[in-house]
Amino acid sequence: MRAIVNTPATGGVAFAEVAEPLPADGEVLIEVKAVSVNRGEILNLPGSPEGWRPGWDVAGVVLESSNGFTAGQRVVALSLADGSWAERIAVPAEAVAALPDAVGFAEAATLPVAALTALRLVRESGTLLGRRVLVTGAAGGVGRILVQLASAAGAEVTAVARNAARAKGLNELGAAAVVTEIDAADGPFDAVYESVGGTSLASALNLVGPGGTVFSYGNSSGESTPVDFFQFFGGHEQAVLRHFVFVTGAQVGPDLAALARLVADGRLDVGVSFTKDWAHVEEALTAVRERTVAGKAVLTIG
Ligand SMILES: NC(=O)c1ccc[n+]([C@@H]2O[C@H](COP(=O)([O-])OP(=O)(O)OC[C@H]3O[C@@H](n4cnc5c(N)ncnc54)[C@H](OP(=O)(O)O)[C@@H]3O)[C@@H](O)[C@H]2O)c1
Repeated sequence: MRAIVNTPATGGVAFAEVAEPLPADGEVLIEVKAVSVNRGEILNLPGSPEGWRPGWDVAGVVLESSNGFTAGQRVVALSLADGSWAERIAVPAEAVAALPDAVGFAEAATLPVAALTALRLVRESGTLLGRRVLVTGAAGGVGRILVQLASAAGAEVTAVARNAARAKGLNELGAAAVVTEIDAADGPFDAVYESVGGTSLASALNLVGPGGTVFSYGNSSGESTPVDFFQFFGGHEQAVLRHFVFVTGAQVGPDLAALARLVADGRLDVGVSFTKDWAHVEEALTAVRERTVAGKAVLTIG
């Protein structure tokens, strides 16, 4: 079958013939119909070996009935073992969920990484009812979904998006305020969802209120941040700087099912703004890398 493989020598990816997946006990064999491109996958490409196969998101159709899923069933799944940018993949059944008819494959492809990360960040925050939250990278794949889920949970959301065109629609999605740089945000905040790193993380630590939490869940800028004990005095006492990864906890399948229901009910807009056949993979990688898309870029297969 065909798959996209890493070619670090050329600084990109290529198509290659690879072995068919052989589902182990407890796995479901899926024909992949769509994947989305995550910044994390792009960040992993240069440091990974030649031939490494990227891809965490899976939206597709079950090929063989097994483990509670039936052949022909439309599903969404998370492949933590990478390799979903391929025609077929085998995924552990606990990371697979049935897809309602109302949810297209392109929308579904955004759920395993981007939407699951947003869901779990919000859940880890405890109650957000009446809380003030700040979302950096709010025009990005995770950010747009975070704005919606935090707002739906009752928070007053401030969104940071550097570019006015990409920030379009964030108010309608639930942001009470949209700013083009973090230092223009009106703190203090009970929770900050921070994924840019560098000076953005430094500013987040200046904007978190006493006992609040800065969730550091990414470093899109690639810059580091000095952190000092004394900077927490003067209004940030007992604040928490928390490292966050979305695979914390189990229950991937049920969480994907919950997210798919939100999309089906029209309560979650996953923000797909680029959808092309996977032959255009390099174009999608460039668009996400250089942030010329708002929200998510999706590749369709077959
Ligand atoms: N911890 C986890 O489990 C987890 C899970 C998923 C993603 N992540 C991380 O979370 C971050 C967001 O992921 P994503 O897939 O939503 O990425 P994305 O779609 O590329 O969004 C990144 C956002 O950050 C903004 N940004 C601000 N400064 C930036 C800079 N210097 N370089 C690049 N982007 C910058 C972008 O641009 P504009 O403001 O210009 O629009 C964009 O809105 C990434 O760092 C990713 O690796 C972590």
